[in-house]
Amino acid sequence: MSSTYTFILSLLLFVGFSSSKKIPPYLTLCSRHDPNLNECVKNAVEQLRPHLALGVPELLLPPMDPLVLPEAGLSSGDNFKASFKNIQIYYANEFRIDNLNVNLDKYHIDLELSFPRLRILSQYNIDGRILVLQLHGHGPADGNFTDVSANAAFEGELKSKKGKEYITIKSVKVDLKIGKPFFQFENIFNGNEELNVQTNKIINENVVDIIDELRPVIDKTVTDFAIGIVSRVFNRFSFDELFPK
Ligand SMILES: *[C@@H]1O[C@H](CO)[C@@H](O)[C@H](O)[C@H]1NC(C)=O
Repeated sequence: MSSTYTFILSLLLFVGFSSSKKIPPYLTLCSRHDPNLNECVKNAVEQLRPHLALGVPELLLPPMDPLVLPEAGLSSGDNFKASFKNIQIYYANEFRIDNLNVNLDKYHIDLELSFPRLRILSQYNIDGRILVLQLHGHGPADGNFTDVSANAAFEGELKSKKGKEYITIKSVKVDLKIGKPFFQFENIFNGNEELNVQTNKIINENVVDIIDELRPVIDKTVTDFAIGIVSRVFNRFSFDELFPK
């Protein structure tokens, strides 16, 4: 792909949380020496799950149903620009853990999640050419996704801060699989209903290629988001606090 994409994602979603620095009482922590550490961490996530929809302020986890991102944008040179505002992602809290492997000797976490359904609502603004499509419009966008899965490999290390040790994430490798979503962009031809219907049809017929075209951007966004979420927890609580001896 010769085009280069740039992406801006604002993670303002975390601003506004202030709460006591305490592990939530319903959460059972896992000893770092637990012989079934993976099972234990999985169970801990299940303990959190009923609280994920509204968020877990103690762990700085934002509400997940919907998960709100104020803004995301992408562009390809001078040819294509798209921005999305007030992005609301529904049903992210319904993820399933297909695999989890926590290695606390190497501070390495492998995680495989699948999302049976996701619905993403936003206000879009699109201008330019992508694949065969010349697009120009703004308005509400709606997208339904099934069969989304994400594998993430986190590499961390231990760092000292004020006499305590914290896990810091050095890198994450994310592999994202997106099934065939279905989109509806309203007003994509600024009011021409006939063209609007046609354009949405073409977008949905080509959606797999469009996603491939935008893949570097999508991967980067999801990677940054994953690092953001995990780092928040690991920066807030020391290794001893999260994984007692
Ligand atoms: C997404 O699914 C919901 C039902 O869950 C439906 O109301 C909505 O119209 C769908 N959106 C699109 C773009 O198909």
